Amino acid sequence: MHNAVKVLISEDEIRERVHALGRQIEADYHGKPLTIAAVLTGSLIVLADLIRRIGVPHRIALIQASSYKGATTTATTLVINESFAPDVADRDVLLLDDILDTGQTLSALIRHVNDRGARSVRTAVLLRKIGRQEVPLEPDYCGFTIPNAFVVGYGLDYDDDYRHLPYVGILDGPEATPH
Ligand code: XMP
Repeated sequence: MHNAVKVLISEDEIRERVHALGRQIEADYHGKPLTIAAVLTGSLIVLADLIRRIGVPHRIALIQASSYKGATTTATTLVINESFAPDVADRDVLLLDDILDTGQTLSALIRHVNDRGARSVRTAVLLRKIGRQEVPLEPDYCGFTIPNAFVVGYGLDYDDDYRHLPYVGILDGPEATPH
């Protein structure tokens, strides 16, 4: 059974903002070898909507990044799987993630893509949480800034559910533990 979800960002607001970001990216990458590298799984929905607003040629890459807490230390290790990422050497890479939280994922991926010989690396996020960032990182494109709450919908999940919601919402109820 689903918990109640309180709408934080409506479908219309998302559509308008994603269109604007698409136009901006289109202008910035005109004539450049753009690869949009989307971080699985949360950014799939924004990827699909965004690329249909980018009228310049570009490739798509999918990257899986899973973080594991060490058993004996507090350090987290990020394991990167790029089986679905074509070669990014000499490409202008735009990393796309659903949400910027602590910033650990994107900052590790920036280093990784640079090491792969990308021509340039920038970042785009649909959401940015206030007051959670541990690593200094200014996303080049940001959809919305949101309060520190656990959000679901439009690709974002709780326990692999709720991704299909057309809006971004805050989970209501006992399961909605702070992230
Ligand atoms: P960091 O902390 O590395 O993490 O910036 C970004 C990843 O953390 C997940 N995340 C969330 N997922 N609702 C979600 O569904 C949230 O409120 C949330 N906050 C962080 C997400 O996978 C993101 O890619």
